[in-house]
Amino acid sequence: MQTVRVEAQNGSYDILIGRGLLAQAEQALSMCAGRRALVVADTNTAPLYGQAMLRALGLAGARASLYTVPAGEESKSLAQLAALYDAFLDAGLSRRDFVVALGGGVVGDLAGYAAASFLRGVRLIQVPTTLLSQVDSSVGGKTAVNLPRGKNLVGAFYQPERVLIDVDTLDTLDARQVGAGLGEVIKYGCIADEALFARIEQAGGRAALWAHIDGVIARCCALKADYVRRDPLDKGVRAQLNFGHTLGHAVENAAGYGQVLHGEGVCMGMVAAARWGEGWGVTEPGTAARIERVLRAYGLPTQAPNLPREALARAMRLDKKASGGRVQVVVLERIGRAATHEVDQAALEALL
Ligand code: GLY
Repeated sequence: MQTVRVEAQNGSYDILIGRGLLAQAEQALSMCAGRRALVVADTNTAPLYGQAMLRALGLAGARASLYTVPAGEESKSLAQLAALYDAFLDAGLSRRDFVVALGGGVVGDLAGYAAASFLRGVRLIQVPTTLLSQVDSSVGGKTAVNLPRGKNLVGAFYQPERVLIDVDTLDTLDARQVGAGLGEVIKYGCIADEALFARIEQAGGRAALWAHIDGVIARCCALKADYVRRDPLDKGVRAQLNFGHTLGHAVENAAGYGQVLHGEGVCMGMVAAARWGEGWGVTEPGTAARIERVLRAYGLPTQAPNLPREALARAMRLDKKASGGRVQVVVLERIGRAATHEVDQAALEALL
């Protein structure tokens, strides 16, 4: 088992990473002894891991119960949030008790925000079960639900007390979901760790990388922990985590949610941002081609689907707040080093 420490001014905690952790999580959950714990899972994770989670909490001395939400982005709604508050009331949760988020990004964001806001904050443990949530959304305290007019419009920064990553949970993910997570893994190499990028490059494909996936997840968590330590409230350097998101979000939006997965959009966006950076003279020439080669080797998309340019531009305008007609784009100086670059909104749209 590997441990990565997150030290942030709004909360410090350990991320535990290993295989078979759920089956032996009693010690990792010792803070739950004598407390109530409501496990929030979805219709995918509840049947797979619900009982193991309840058993581990029971062995740790908690009075645990399970609440299941429908799988899918639709559950990040105000209606589902209200239903969750009811479940918290029914379970008799006090501020000393725990919410345990067992699932991917949707469950983590929803249960996390419910925990942040119920009674002005009950204790939270994240148990992410997708690669994307293990390397990104479960770490760093971002929680949110969607409004009908946009994603993540209501939320809070609320750090968990513990993150428990059982790498075995990835065995039940389909190849497309794994790929979406790998897109984020490659992103960490691009923005902050040339050695990680080279390791992924040298592995040459999913099967070889999988033999070392625990270490890769731990490295990504450590990189994320460093961004969170430096910028817990996302007011500065943490924006670098959005490398590839300018085009990525626009494609996700314009294609219609669910058509292009977030991690897939990020893959397309990374190649585009590297090309733009090369064109602006800030990115080392050859960087875009290098990223493209790695994405191809991992069976990941490198190009946006054919969407009307106006739809992409509109989606980008909604997502990227321009100030005086200028927008900030995360670019690379080279692999392993990110920066931000300010450009004209109109000039950026012309590149689509
Ligand atoms: N997902 C990016 C962040 O946590 O800042």
